[in-house]
Amino acid sequence: MNTTSGLTRRDFTKTTLLAGAAVASGALTAFAADAPARRIRTGVIGCGSVSNAYLPNLTKSPFVEVVSLCDIKPERAKRQAERFKIPHHYPNIDAMLAGAPFEFLVDLTDMQQHEHINRRALEAGKHVWSEKPIANSLAAGRKLLQLAQQKNLRLWGAPITVQSPQFAFMAKQLAAGKLGRVAAAHADYGHEGPNWSAFFYEKGGGSMPDLAVYNLTSLTGLLGPAKSVTAMVSIVTPERTVGDKGKIKVTEEDNAMVLLDHGQGIISHVQSGFNYFNPHGHDGSKETRHTISIVGSKGFMGLVGYDWAPLGVDLATKDAPEIKRYATDPEGYSWPLGAAMAAECLATGKELLVTPEHALHVLEIITAARESSAKGRRIQLQSTFKWPVVS
Ligand SMILES: NC(=O)c1ccc[n+]([C@@H]2O[C@H](COP(=O)([O-])OP(=O)(O)OC[C@H]3O[C@@H](n4cnc5c(N)ncnc54)[C@H](O)[C@@H]3O)[C@@H](O)[C@H]2O)c1
Repeated sequence: MNTTSGLTRRDFTKTTLLAGAAVASGALTAFAADAPARRIRTGVIGCGSVSNAYLPNLTKSPFVEVVSLCDIKPERAKRQAERFKIPHHYPNIDAMLAGAPFEFLVDLTDMQQHEHINRRALEAGKHVWSEKPIANSLAAGRKLLQLAQQKNLRLWGAPITVQSPQFAFMAKQLAAGKLGRVAAAHADYGHEGPNWSAFFYEKGGGSMPDLAVYNLTSLTGLLGPAKSVTAMVSIVTPERTVGDKGKIKVTEEDNAMVLLDHGQGIISHVQSGFNYFNPHGHDGSKETRHTISIVGSKGFMGLVGYDWAPLGVDLATKDAPEIKRYATDPEGYSWPLGAAMAAECLATGKELLVTPEHALHVLEIITAARESSAKGRRIQLQSTFKWPVVS
C-alpha cells in the first residue's frame, strides 16, 4: 500500500475530499485545525463556462490564493475578477506571466490551446493543472511531462473520476474478485453538444476529448491500461450554430464507438457523442441510468449516474443475486475540485490518485481511435500508467 506523509493514498483522498466538501459548503472552520502553512499563489487562464465551476472551489480553498485571471476575451477575465474579487486580470498569457507573481497555473482554455499554454507555463516555472486534454498528442504530452520533471514541477490533468468514492468501491469489488472472471464493460456519455463555443467541433476538439475522456479514464482505471484500440468515429451533424462563431462546419468527430482490449480477455466499449437526446442536459445530478456497467462470470456492477457525478453503485453477485445499491455518499467528491486538490498537494506534499501518465494514456486512446477509424484496423498502444489506481 502506498503511503505519503503517514497517510495512505485513500485516506488522503478522503481527507482531501472532505476538505473539499467543507470548502464547497463554506464550512472552513471544519478543518481550521489543519490550516495549511501557506496558500498556493494561483493564476487561472480561460474565464469561460467551466471557470464558473472552478472559481468558487478555488477561491474558497484554504490552500489557494487566486492572484490573477486571464482571457483573450478580456471582458471575461474582468467580469470574473470582479465577481470573485481577484486582484489582477490580463488579456493574454504573456501579460499574465509578466504580471503578479504566481506558482500554479490552472488552464481552462479551449481544448486546442492547452498544449502550448501548458508548455509556456512550465517553461516559466509554474506547476500546471490542465483541463482535458493536457496536449494534442501523446508525443507532445510526454514532452510536457518530461519538461515538468526536469524542472521539478507538477503537471496534472482533468478529469478526476478516479477520486470518487464510487470509483474506489468498484475498484475494490474487482480487486476482491466479487465479479469472478471479468469479461466485458460498457460506458457511454453524450448530450446534444455545447452550443457556446466552436472549438468543441473543430480539429483537436470532438466528443472523445470532451466526453469519452471521462469513461476512458474510469474504465482504464478500473480494468487496467488498454493494450489496443479499435474504433469507428463519424460526424452526424456537419453544420452547427454556436454562440461565438455562428454557423460552423463540424470537422472533428461528434459520434464515437471505441473498443478497448485490456488484456487477459477483458474487452470494454465506450461510446460518446454530441447527438444524444438527453432530458437532463448538462445536469449530472439528475442522471440515474447506469452509465458504466461491468460484468464477469460471478457478478455485475452498474455505476448509477455519470462517472463525473456518480450517485452510487449497483451490485449483484452469484452469492447475493438481488441488485443492491452501495456507495451513495459523495464524501465531498465533486468534479471541478481537481485544481483545488492539486493546490493542496503543492501546499502539503500529499498525492492525488489522478496522474499525468493516466491522462496521457487516455489521450493516446483518443488519437488511436481516430487512426483506427481512418485506417480500418486495430491500433496497438504504447503508453501505460501505474495500476491499480486504488490500492
Ligand atoms: N463547460 C463545461 O461545463 C466544462 C466541463 C468540464 C470540462 N470543460 C473543459 O474546460 C475547457 C474550457 O471549456 P469551456 O466550456 O469553459 O469553454 P469556453 O469557450 O466557455 O471558455 C474557454 C475560454 O478560454 C479562453 N481562451 C481561449 N484561448 C485562450 C488563450 N490562448 N489565452 C487565454 N484565454 C483563452 C476563451 O476566450 C474562453 O473564454 C475545455 O477543455 C472543456 O473541455 C468544460
